[in-house]
Amino acid sequence: MRSSLCFVLLSLFCILPNVAGKTCTLKPLGHGKDDTTQVLNAIDECGQNGHVILQEGNYNITRKMNWNLKSSTVDLHGFLNFRPNIEFWLQSENTYRVIFIQSQASWFVITGEDFVVDAHNTGGIQGNGQAWWNFFSLPENPREDGDGRPVSLTLSHVKGGTIKNFQIQGPPFWCNAVANSQNVLYQGITCNATNTNPALAGQNIVWNTDGIDTYRSDSISLIDWDVSTGDDCLAIKGNSTNIFASNILCRGGEGVAIGSLGQYQQFNDIVENVHIENVRTQRPPAVVQPNMISGVYFKTWTSSVHGAPPTGGGGGGGRVNNVTVINLFHDDVTTPVRIFQNNGGQPGDIPSKLQISNLNFVNLVGSANTSQRLLVVDLECSPAVPCRNIRFQNFNIQAPKGEKPILTCSNISVTGLPGSCNAPSN
Ligand SMILES: *[C@@H]1O[C@H](CO)[C@@H](O)[C@H](O)[C@H]1NC(C)=O
Ligand SMILES: *[C@@H]1O[C@H](CO)[C@@H](O)[C@H](O)[C@H]1NC(C)=O
Ligand SMILES: *[C@@H]1O[C@H](CO)[C@@H](O)[C@H](O)[C@H]1NC(C)=O
Ligand SMILES: *[C@@H]1O[C@H](CO)[C@@H](O)[C@H](O)[C@H]1NC(C)=O
Ligand SMILES: *[C@@H]1O[C@H](CO)[C@@H](O)[C@H](O)[C@H]1NC(C)=O
Ligand SMILES: *[C@@H]1O[C@H](CO)[C@@H](O)[C@H](O)[C@H]1NC(C)=O
Repeated sequence: MRSSLCFVLLSLFCILPNVAGKTCTLKPLGHGKDDTTQVLNAIDECGQNGHVILQEGNYNITRKMNWNLKSSTVDLHGFLNFRPNIEFWLQSENTYRVIFIQSQASWFVITGEDFVVDAHNTGGIQGNGQAWWNFFSLPENPREDGDGRPVSLTLSHVKGGTIKNFQIQGPPFWCNAVANSQNVLYQGITCNATNTNPALAGQNIVWNTDGIDTYRSDSISLIDWDVSTGDDCLAIKGNSTNIFASNILCRGGEGVAIGSLGQYQQFNDIVENVHIENVRTQRPPAVVQPNMISGVYFKTWTSSVHGAPPTGGGGGGGRVNNVTVINLFHDDVTTPVRIFQNNGGQPGDIPSKLQISNLNFVNLVGSANTSQRLLVVDLECSPAVPCRNIRFQNFNIQAPKGEKPILTCSNISVTGLPGSCNAPSN
């Protein structure tokens, strides 16, 4: 608004959105050199009321970065190339811990307000994930939440920010996280965790490469995303409100998750007013990524506590309320729609007290691959707080030819499914 007004009044002086600001322009120092210092210096000098231009090429980033941006634009034409120095990054002092949930680590955190980071579809982050996936595919290096694998791009304490036309190639762990933030637009985002090691072809070695996790954040928009993953395409976690997602391509993995919720017994997790539209969940060739598990799914922990976060937990309350999913296309998905409330649970647990209500699913089309689980819809809510007002309209997901779609429901009030939905037989 401000820049267009001043453009009209004083076009000569107002070409950049930040009128008075300085501009810093960088190019990569070249092979063998470390770009971290020059990038941080440019952000310090021009990242507030200014403009930073990183020209095309690879910037060698060797240590953690925090960009505190205020009323500024960063044009990132190249890639921030995070050195695949695994043992270094896994030492806790070499990353930030700002996400809180599951104590996840971050090597690059953006904070601040009123900024735009535009990577022009030519840049973003190169996470060199293949080295990480190879490392964590070895049995002696198990993957655990909170183990220090870094999130590629973290937004923390942001009030008004835009990330656009931004690629994250080779994420070691989650591509994105947004925590304790409000009014953020992510538009034109690629997250790509695709194994190219022939020795590991056909396995899912890219667990935890979520497209984004949202936590303790309000008014977050996710538009035009292309996510190749072995895990959640989007994960809407506790205290995410007013979330809007549109035009999301999920290639492989688990699909769009609401959760997990209720991992921390001392917190209520609230997920409310979520609108998700135009999502395509597409099964890649099995040699590239064997999993395409759900279109959309909801998961909560039980009310019993087993161990402690980051890996264990449970016992948290809260609610999921008012979630609309419109135009969800499934390509050969294992179980297109799922609800389960026993994440991390054991037989005999106290059932979850986290209630799910007012879900609307409109225009669900495509196909289910029932070769693994003979379920098209599997909705198993907590007997302590049965799901209320779950509505399907225009449900048209085909089971493979000759097979009858199986619909499973328990502890739920649901309408609009194409047949009777019975309790699971086990
Ligand atoms: C990155 O910088 C380090 C020095 O900190 C250097 O050893 C390494 O070779 C550089 N990497 C690249 C790809 O230039
Ligand atoms: C994802 O990565 C793979 C392997 O590097 C590459 O072949 C593919 O083009 C990438 N896709 C996107 C959308 O960036
Ligand atoms: C979510 O917000 C509610 C209040 O609205 C608060 O009681 C709860 O502790 C918050 N949960 C988390 C995980 O921060
Ligand atoms: C449900 O959420 C949508 C946003 O996704 C919002 O526009 C609508 O007002 C909410 N409905 C209620 C009853 O709060
Ligand atoms: C269903 O999934 C399995 C396992 O990923 C795969 O082998 C099979 O080809 C898929 N079925 C179809 C019809 O694509
Ligand atoms: C919850 O569902 C289970 C399995 O269908 C059923 O046995 C149980 O009676 C239900 N409980 C309530 C409170 O509806």
